[in-house]
Amino acid sequence: MYKHKPVLLSEVLEHLQPEPNQQFLDGTVGLGGHAEALLKRILPDGRLLAFDRDAGNLRVCQSRLASYGKAVVYINDSFSNAQTHAKAHGFTKIDGALLDLGFSSVHVDDPDRGFSFLKSGPLDMRYDPRGELSAAHIVNTWSEDELARIFREYGEERRARDIARMIVKRRKSKQFTGTVDLAESIAQVVRRHGRIHPATLVFQALRIAVNDEFGHLQLGLPSIADLLRPGSRLAVISFHSLEDRVIKNFIKSRNDLIKVNKKVITATRLEIKSNSRARSAKLRIAEKV
Ligand SMILES: C[S@@+](CC[C@H](N)C(=O)[O-])C[C@H]1O[C@@H](n2cnc3c(N)ncnc32)[C@H](O)[C@@H]1O
Repeated sequence: MYKHKPVLLSEVLEHLQPEPNQQFLDGTVGLGGHAEALLKRILPDGRLLAFDRDAGNLRVCQSRLASYGKAVVYINDSFSNAQTHAKAHGFTKIDGALLDLGFSSVHVDDPDRGFSFLKSGPLDMRYDPRGELSAAHIVNTWSEDELARIFREYGEERRARDIARMIVKRRKSKQFTGTVDLAESIAQVVRRHGRIHPATLVFQALRIAVNDEFGHLQLGLPSIADLLRPGSRLAVISFHSLEDRVIKNFIKSRNDLIKVNKKVITATRLEIKSNSRARSAKLRIAEKV
């Protein structure tokens, strides 16, 4: 029923070591795959503080985890506001936290959300529809320099400047409103062969910019780390090298955190075979001293 397979699940459990009656935080609960596995281990009196910016995902998660009743507190907000919500719900010291960053399969599967370049939909890409910035706004109003910067930094797209130039030229006669229109226009500039679609990296960059994903991560990491009790752990799964660098530098910058794994943990070949999304997943674990 729940298509989204939790990435690096056994590795997360092995390192977070959840035990009965503990309190955990899941900053990106999504459809609740990791959360359910954590909940099974913290029964009978454990509690989970579960965040998602996407109200739709949170609703699906809530029905999946209905049998856990009041053990789960659902928050439709960014994990960057973890401190405020934790205090309001009595999670003053937690026994572990997980962040599994980025989007979920639901986002790509639903054309109306505008995340997929293969399905026709509006250029939206907001996790939280209350947010003001959409992909259409960026594509139709940001300067060539700003577009080139996000395509290069967030997408690591080698043809960033050429694509930005094409967008600015084309929108003078006709603004971009749809995903497929943008994807096809990019494909005329980037005739990349191989396994990835020419628009993949630009769509990734737009998603990161629309949702200010790095900004939320930079605020969220200290907010969550401050909630950890000594001896407990933070596990973060990322899918982008810039994101991984933010996490690595954050752990290094804090003298109350020590890194548990020297090298990032990646998925086994077996997991990648059954879940292609696991291919680029990187897990870092830090322990509070
Ligand atoms: C990869 S999915 C999580 C999947 C989940 N671990 C599971 O097993 O089902 C990431 C989720 O995080 C949400 N998200 C992304 N950035 C967020 C943020 N800053 N705060 C809260 N949720 C966020 C997305 O809406 C998405 O549902």
